[in-house]
Amino acid sequence: MSNILVGVTGGIAAYKTAYLVREFIRARHNVKVVMTKKAESFVGHTTFEALSLNPVLREDNTPKPISHIDYALWADICIIAPATANIIGKINAGIADNELLSTILALKCPLVLAPAMNTNMYNNVIVQENIKSLQSKGIYMILPASGLLACQTEGEGKMQEPDIIAEKVLNILNNKNNLSLKVENDMLSGLTILITAGPTKEYFDPVRYITNESSGKMGYALAEEAHKMGANVILISGEVSIVSDIPNIHKVVSAEDMYNAFLSFYNDADIIIMAAAVADYAPVYENIKIKKNDDELTINLKKTKDILSYAGANKKDNQILVGFAAETNNMEEYAKQKLEKKNADIIAANDVSRKDIGFNSMDNEVTLFFADGHITHTGRQSKQDIAKIILAESAILHSEKNQ
Ligand code: PMT
Repeated sequence: MSNILVGVTGGIAAYKTAYLVREFIRARHNVKVVMTKKAESFVGHTTFEALSLNPVLREDNTPKPISHIDYALWADICIIAPATANIIGKINAGIADNELLSTILALKCPLVLAPAMNTNMYNNVIVQENIKSLQSKGIYMILPASGLLACQTEGEGKMQEPDIIAEKVLNILNNKNNLSLKVENDMLSGLTILITAGPTKEYFDPVRYITNESSGKMGYALAEEAHKMGANVILISGEVSIVSDIPNIHKVVSAEDMYNAFLSFYNDADIIIMAAAVADYAPVYENIKIKKNDDELTINLKKTKDILSYAGANKKDNQILVGFAAETNNMEEYAKQKLEKKNADIIAANDVSRKDIGFNSMDNEVTLFFADGHITHTGRQSKQDIAKIILAESAILHSEKNQ
């Protein structure tokens, strides 16, 4: 039984949302509804209260001053049906000028939109760009069907039928639940887990360096969750501002330092997870501060040691090796190449062109590529929850390998 939050906006398809709520209730889920003022001109809130058995969060009648936060945090998944062009544009712009939009901004769960509108509106380049932009941020779309629309024209823009929407929403929910079901409190007890985190800093003179945007949040989330799940954690960390009280943190600066620290610990590790953003190239170092003499300055770079490749080449039979792939394009192709070339058991690929996940964000969304060929999408979740999923999958692989 999960908590499903249904958002209703002002379109004629709002009447179908009553059937959608009924589908969820029939499947024994808890449902709460948030309505915009316009939605109430199509269907009254009492219909949704009667069907959901819960108070509806409305513009004119919020149960509490901060109900939008309560509703957002209560939800395991949120579906907006129908989603008008207006709400799609406002979500994409981060606007929060009504209860529904404020709730959406506070969500910590997957968000699904079922757009419905006139064909010309749907095909409008701005609406299409908004839809694509939201999809690229990890928001699920149940795209409309073609058919006779309320405006008596035929074309794309008809909201999908409630049973189809319900099935898709429940599939997303099941995938999320299946992943978190695998997480058990003590599943790492007795195991040693080596994790790398954060950026490396590559100095090219005594006061200047090249680095990257990694905050260390992903790697520290892995280390802290692994610690909670009973593991003996060894964390090799680049310079980050995170303060953590887990024992066994080894601070390093450069890729070379990280490699050397790695060599000291990897032998004893049962599971190795490499979340650090290690520089691929380091500058040739000048012992004294480079002077500003010329208009142009050339810095020569040389390849660093690829720690993940080393770990893969020297992997012991009982070890599980998890690498990350930070990609901006061709994610699947590059992740699969890394999986094979680096002899990893899992590659966790994340899209680092997105601002809401990846580098320096609170959340992440990864696709896990396994050596046996199967693939799992986590959806966008907090880095802590992503960490739990990666750790659970690693623990399962480890126990299969060590039976
Ligand atoms: O630290 P955050 O702000 O929370 O951001 C998290 C993250 C985006 C840094 C993280 O999720 C992530 O993607 N980490 C890997 C970053 C990276 O360097 O990816 P890559 O595709 O360039 O490298 C592939 C793998 O090889 C990684 O596991 C990396 O740790 C490893 N590597 C890379 C270079 C090198 N010289 N040695 C390595 O071991």
